[in-house]
Amino acid sequence: MDVSAAISQRYSARAYKATDVEENKLKMVLEAARLSPSASNRQDWKFIVVKNKETRKKLAKAAFEQSFIAEAPIVIIACGMEPSAMLACGQPMHTVDVSIACAYMILQAYELGLGTCWIGAFSEEEAKKILRVPEHIRVVAMTPLGYPNQPPSQKFRKTLDQIVCYEKYE
Ligand SMILES: Cc1cc2nc3c(=O)[nH]c(=O)nc-3n(C[C@H](O)[C@H](O)[C@H](O)COP(=O)(O)O)c2cc1C
Repeated sequence: MDVSAAISQRYSARAYKATDVEENKLKMVLEAARLSPSASNRQDWKFIVVKNKETRKKLAKAAFEQSFIAEAPIVIIACGMEPSAMLACGQPMHTVDVSIACAYMILQAYELGLGTCWIGAFSEEEAKKILRVPEHIRVVAMTPLGYPNQPPSQKFRKTLDQIVCYEKYE
């Protein structure tokens, strides 16, 4: 599968089979994060791989009862280690860097036949408690990782005309 196919076909999976994810596939997904770009190549991130069923259930609860999260055999939690670092453009480095790494993981997972769903609706406080994440570290996102148990959903997207302008803001 090429990158454009992965970009156009990937979808958020909200139902998962209990089938385990092969270790080599998990490694490839994590490698995608490792190889992704970051500001000044700082790589100030940590990815927590959760397989324990009880912990997955707790995370699903912390994500306001999005129970499908715990259906997947793996949940990956993406953390930013230096939340005070800012880009010159005013954006927090860790949010941008960790989000790029998650996007890479999600696309790599799709190529491997695995489903993901970016989870942004969760209580960071709860997630940190469950995973014993130190106070100063931020949890940016999480995603279930597993074999999807649902057909691809249709994509609803704005047209290019709606989101692109040329030469100046319009
Ligand atoms: C920052 C962010 C936060 C999201 N949070 C959630 C979430 O908490 N729960 C969920 O089911 N989907 C979540 N999503 C998935 C979006 O709803 C989904 O990407 C969007 O509807 C487009 O659908 P698609 O991913 O199937 O193309 C999130 C996506 C992003 C990028």
